[in-house]
Amino acid sequence: MSLITWTPEQFGTNVGFADEEHKVLFDKLNKLYDLAIGGAARSAIGAQLDDLIAYVVEHFAHEEREMQAKGFHDYPAHKAEHVALIGICADLQKKFHAGEAEVTEEVGQLVKGWLDNHIPKFDKAYSNALNR
Ligand code: FEO
Repeated sequence: MSLITWTPEQFGTNVGFADEEHKVLFDKLNKLYDLAIGGAARSAIGAQLDDLIAYVVEHFAHEEREMQAKGFHDYPAHKAEHVALIGICADLQKKFHAGEAEVTEEVGQLVKGWLDNHIPKFDKAYSNALNR
């Protein structure tokens, strides 16, 4: 079973690019989770981890450009949330490639939990501003 499933009720922002990118992000996270939990080769897990993190960075930058372009009032708090997750990801990525950390069930649940909170609470909040 997938770690995380996109549904419009839980994750829909009514902003086209964001919903599409969130679906891609969920697919990449699910793939990483399946590789890690399924005992795939470490090289395959590492490649998927790098791909997921690169996509997260790209997605956050896209949202940030759109929020700034529309003068969204809550941009600073939203940006701070992004910076915090990128920090966690960068730390994991560095430790994984140094052989000091693994992608575990706990790591999957941590990222899932972050998305479960962030998209409904922060991303849905820019819906009106980005649709103006
Ligand atoms: Fe879709 Fe603010 O991350």
